[in-house]
Amino acid sequence: MQRVGILTGGGDSPGINAAIRSIVRFGYRHNIAAIGFLEGWKGVMENLSRPLGPENVSGILHIGGTILGSSRTNPFKNEQGVDRITKTLEQNAIDFLVAIGGDDTLSVAHKLASYGIQAIGIPQTIDNDIALTDYCIGFSSALGVITDALDRLHTTAFSHHRILILEVMGRDAGWLSLMGGVAGGADIILIPEQDFSVAAVHRQILNRQARKKHFSIIIIAEGAKPEKLESQVVNEAEIDAFGHVRLGGVGQYVANQLADKMRIPVRVTNLAYLQRGGRPSPSDRILATRFGAAAIEFALERRFDVMTAIQGTTIKAVSLAEALGKQRHIDPGLLYLVNLFE
Ligand code: F6P
Repeated sequence: MQRVGILTGGGDSPGINAAIRSIVRFGYRHNIAAIGFLEGWKGVMENLSRPLGPENVSGILHIGGTILGSSRTNPFKNEQGVDRITKTLEQNAIDFLVAIGGDDTLSVAHKLASYGIQAIGIPQTIDNDIALTDYCIGFSSALGVITDALDRLHTTAFSHHRILILEVMGRDAGWLSLMGGVAGGADIILIPEQDFSVAAVHRQILNRQARKKHFSIIIIAEGAKPEKLESQVVNEAEIDAFGHVRLGGVGQYVANQLADKMRIPVRVTNLAYLQRGGRPSPSDRILATRFGAAAIEFALERRFDVMTAIQGTTIKAVSLAEALGKQRHIDPGLLYLVNLFE
């Protein structure tokens, strides 16, 4: 019997538990026993684990977050990081790892390959910004929350004649902002791929008012950069173990800039962690289930240092080296959606 170690790292997403369940159940069918490491790479370094038999993954399909816990621990920031991981894997007789996470978590899995550690990655991030896969676990669920939020904001916006700004996640890629904006009928869509000017946003609002539209809804990605600023708007300047600052606040920046120019109130809603929480959508459950089963299949075929990916409707194994370190921005062919109804 082989043994797989599963870990989940980075910001959580709805659908991770569905992937864990699939790996455990499909693995069990193929005589692969699973254990779960707790809190991402931290659990592998510190040998914190729990057994994962089919009985432990019963009833988790519809639950958001991760039953294993998550962290942004980077073992390569710790001198003994790799040695500790090797020791944990030996002690638990682990044959291979499945890492579920975004670019940072999966980049550790890839780096470990050069130390003889066999791993497979499963992409999960609501930002949907990992290369070579059309979708990451979590994106569809977050999009559902954003669409619902925009529907709800519309009622106050038109009843009170307000300008409402909805800030959503998306550090470097505007998938959530663009697709959420289209699905929820936002009037102005601002994304990290295109620096924006507040003057242009102001003009768009005035144009709407000239057309007797007495409210405007703006959706803005946290990573969208105002032309006038040197860099993105940062909530916390302190960098994490993977070198990222915490973004946030660009919605309020736009509101402050617009406030003096407008005769109607400008208000901001930051969806923050609400968009990452809650039940996974049907699409995320299906994607996660397929990715989990695919990870086991790839292991049985002895294909490691790869990531599960969906391209069209087909699940593929793509090389981690090729998928990581490049943000997947909005396809240029979709950018027309930003200004479709301007
Ligand atoms: O999961 C990716 C992400 O959602 C980014 O869009 C966001 O910047 C980041 O996580 C924030 O997560 P946390 O506050 O948990 O570090």
